[in-house]
Amino acid sequence: MVRITYVEADGCEHTVEVKLGLSLMQGAVWNSVPGIVAECGGNCACGTCRVYVEEPWRDVTGQAADMEEATMEAREDPHPGKRLSCQIKVTEDLDGLVVRMPPSQF
Ligand code: FES
Repeated sequence: MVRITYVEADGCEHTVEVKLGLSLMQGAVWNSVPGIVAECGGNCACGTCRVYVEEPWRDVTGQAADMEEATMEAREDPHPGKRLSCQIKVTEDLDGLVVRMPPSQF
C-alpha cells in the first residue's frame, strides 16, 4: 500500500491508501474520492479520469503513451502535467504522490 493524495479543484484533499498494482484511477474510485469519473472503466477511451501531476513527480509517473495522448487531445486541456489516471500504475515509487484534478472531467 502507498499513500496517494488527490486534490479536488477547490483544494479539498483526499489522502488514501492504494494497493500496489492498481491504477491511480482505481485508487481514487475504490476509495470514493470524488472528481474522477472514469466512464470507460480504465480503457483509455473516455478521458474522464484526468489528473495533473506536479513537475517533481513527472519523471516517476512517466510519459503518456501515444494512445493516452490521443485520448487527452479530445479534451483540449492545456495543462502540462495532465495524465489519464487509469494509465498510471501504482508502484512503491509513488508513495506520497500528490495529484490535482481538473474542475470538470468534461
Ligand atoms: S477511465 Fe476512461 S480514459 Fe481513463
